[in-house]
Amino acid sequence: MNTIDSETLRDWLETGKPITILDIRSAADRAAWAIPGSLHVDAYADLKARNPHALDGVFLPADTPVVTVCNSGYTSQIASKQLQARGIEAISLDGGMRAWSLSWNTADVPLKDSTAEVIQIRRVGKGCLSYLICSKYEAVVIDASLDPEVYLSLAQSRGWRITAVLDTHIHADHLSRSRLLAEQSGATVYLPDQQRVRYRFMPLGNGSIIKVGEASLMVIQTPGHTPESMSYLLDRQALFTGDTLFLQGVGRPDLHATAEETRSHAELFYHSLHHHLLLLPARTLVLPGHTNIPTPFDKIPLTATLGDLRNNVELLRLPESKFVDALVARIPPVPPNHERIIELNEAGELIENPTELEAGGNNCGIS
Ligand SMILES: [Fe+2]
Repeated sequence: MNTIDSETLRDWLETGKPITILDIRSAADRAAWAIPGSLHVDAYADLKARNPHALDGVFLPADTPVVTVCNSGYTSQIASKQLQARGIEAISLDGGMRAWSLSWNTADVPLKDSTAEVIQIRRVGKGCLSYLICSKYEAVVIDASLDPEVYLSLAQSRGWRITAVLDTHIHADHLSRSRLLAEQSGATVYLPDQQRVRYRFMPLGNGSIIKVGEASLMVIQTPGHTPESMSYLLDRQALFTGDTLFLQGVGRPDLHATAEETRSHAELFYHSLHHHLLLLPARTLVLPGHTNIPTPFDKIPLTATLGDLRNNVELLRLPESKFVDALVARIPPVPPNHERIIELNEAGELIENPTELEAGGNNCGIS
């Protein structure tokens, strides 16, 4: 065996198989996104040049197979062959980080005073977080970013039926799988009320309630990241914030917007945070739509209380004018292909292999 596919690697990490993952990409590529727990050696150029000593100084733990990783799975094969020549059991990740982009893991989110159960589904290859929420066997999915089969099989394994799918906003970094998931599960699609999405959906407004078994999700309009952005409050316990509020910061206000619009989005953002979300009880659990750190296979949910975020996120402590200035000044590089991704999400279309279009790490947040 000279290569493995990303699903096998995912299974190995999920089951705790002892392996060493060796990332041989450039430091810049590595900085964009990486596999959790992987080792790094910047040997890309040397391997491409077929330097037989490219990996000579690399220390690898004994007795565990090595999985070599690059961007697309070609240079990592050169690396695995060099390691094999040293007598090391080495295999290359087929498709590299592109293929890894679709990998995922899950964590259960414990809630104290709700009949609902929540699973956080982490697209570890990219940083998108989606959620499966269930009460009395009725389930809702928020911000589906993976193949519908992932959500369908998770729901089926627990005896749940998906009855509704929701997006928090029109995404710019990944293709929404919500429409297809709704078609495959017979669920209803709910989206923020806006005029851009061209397929059939149930529009949500501020204060709308979606019943899930004995639980309910309340819609809170939170414009800022995008004009239509919404957050969903589950049983006054858990707040699904999409790209409005992250654990380290807030969403970017500039995508699909002019410089002038960006500033007014940032002003709306302040209002959404300080006049809506941050007025909720400090114990409210925040469940964001993205993480900027590759998520380990540790089953620990990525969450924090609103109270903790109020204390720890500097941006949330700034007065309005400073907040707006900071947001506008700290805008990160524009994610590749975002206009095309928005176009496809407005049309509700998917493409055969989205990993090229969705390539790149997470660039949604400002901290
Ligand atoms: Fe977003």
